[in-house]
Amino acid sequence: MGSLTLCVCYAKMCLIGGRRHGYARHYLGGVKPPTDMNKRIVKNEEETREFGLELAAAASAGQIIALTGGLGTGKTTLTKAIGEGLGIKAMITSPTYTIIHEYQGGRLPLYHFDVYRIDGADDMYELGFEEYFYGGGLTVVEWADRIPELLPPDALRIKIDFMADAGRIYTY
Ligand SMILES: Nc1ncnc2c1ncn2[C@@H]1O[C@H](COP(=O)(O)OP(=O)(O)O)[C@@H](O)[C@H]1O
Ligand SMILES: [Mg+2]
Repeated sequence: MGSLTLCVCYAKMCLIGGRRHGYARHYLGGVKPPTDMNKRIVKNEEETREFGLELAAAASAGQIIALTGGLGTGKTTLTKAIGEGLGIKAMITSPTYTIIHEYQGGRLPLYHFDVYRIDGADDMYELGFEEYFYGGGLTVVEWADRIPELLPPDALRIKIDFMADAGRIYTY
């Protein structure tokens, strides 16, 4: 992190230098994009499920998984598998209209966001997103590319693209 870094976020409090202030961590201009990207190809929905189970097994409290990919790429399907892997018994459904669904009862709470319909960062502040992002659960965000300025640098970003037939490729 550079000594003087321009803050490009819309968070309530700005800062210089990249340290966490209060609730909000910040996306800062000058943070280097990761260069060591992983790729994972799955051939069918069962392999997507296996990937979700692995992500859940590796997840820790406060982690954010930021999913990017068009309609039908399987963001919700992957999140269901993550929930299953955490041991959540409730049926996981897309929070398309409510933006956030919260699930308890697993190894970690699951906070499932779908931010397709939000109208910028202000909507997220109204929802109190920081309580989730910086809480003690695992946060999964669908359409995360709509809120780049609110994603902390350590979020696990996963881009999903269609492959032939029912295949998907995950880049993260
Ligand atoms: N490999 C796969 N991974 C995930 N979903 C798949 C796969 N193959 C087929 N599908 C189907 O694609 C659809 C994905 O829908 P959904 O998970 O709601 O996508 P999104 O949330 O990205 O819009 C589901 O109907 C699912 O059954
Ligand atoms: Mg979805």
